Amino acid sequence: MKKLFVLLLVAIVTLGLVACESPTTGTPSKSGGLITVGFAQCKADESDWRKANTNSVQQALSKENGFDLILADSNNDAAKQVSDVQGFIDQEVDYIIIAAVNVDGWDTVLKNAKDAGIPVILMDRTINASDELYECWLGSDFYGEGVKATEWMKKRFSGGTPANIVHLQGQLGASAQVGRTEALEDAITANGWTLLAQQTGDWSTDTAKEIMSSWIQQFGSDITCVYAENDNMADGAIQALEEAGMKAGGDDGVAIISFDANRAYLQMTLEGKINCNVECNPLHGPKVAEIIKTMESGGKPSKTETVEESAFFYDTITQEIIDARQY
Ligand code: AHR
Repeated sequence: MKKLFVLLLVAIVTLGLVACESPTTGTPSKSGGLITVGFAQCKADESDWRKANTNSVQQALSKENGFDLILADSNNDAAKQVSDVQGFIDQEVDYIIIAAVNVDGWDTVLKNAKDAGIPVILMDRTINASDELYECWLGSDFYGEGVKATEWMKKRFSGGTPANIVHLQGQLGASAQVGRTEALEDAITANGWTLLAQQTGDWSTDTAKEIMSSWIQQFGSDITCVYAENDNMADGAIQALEEAGMKAGGDDGVAIISFDANRAYLQMTLEGKINCNVECNPLHGPKVAEIIKTMESGGKPSKTETVEESAFFYDTITQEIIDARQY
């Protein structure tokens, strides 16, 4: 009887230990040997850049590569994105990737992830929260991108043409918008340029085109520069200018500044319609996969990883550069 009791006790203790094993240190939570990753994307098909980014993550975190990727598309709704992340915590995924719609509003849900032992990787966008609440951030220096654009503007407007700028912002509160806007505002102050108007075009071609058409009615040929915070919005502005019979780009048209440098828009740069296109690399998938594999084998990724990026100009870009482009 005593022997039976001891055997029972050993069995209970062993079962208890297995059940308590943490989802990040052991394998019991892995579905069929795959690493389960919840991916909270802003809006999977929002822009050419965002589509390339979504594809990159889906390809790198495929089943063949050992991952079970669950994509939650917030449709650029910040509150929905926070609840998507809470949903991943409730599902007990192994890792969470976030491309944050908004810099704010993350403290509670990230504390919940930490308490649940689920590592969070921030991809693309930064947030306003303690860096103890996430493992690492991988993305672009958005302020630095804006500086590259304003450096080109300094040369363009050094010869006497006044810099009268209309500014199409990204979705307000996204770190890409915050950084690129801050760089422009700093340069406006430093160089005495004129900001005619500023409004969000929500990263969208159609919205940007509508806003630009109303600015053309209001300011007409006083506009000498469009600073559009992504390729899709630059395209909308160019369409509005051309429909109004105004020249976009080149040496003597309205100067067009864009960000992202997706292939189709680099072609527009070669055609001269976009003067300065600042690169923002969306191909984060392979690096995210590498970061997760590092953590799986007990390693610690660097807290911050900024992607190397450059800028392309209408008078120096070549077809070879465009043909070599992956996105
Ligand atoms: O965060 C990167 C930015 O977000 C890209 O410029 C834009 O196109 C996207 O939505």
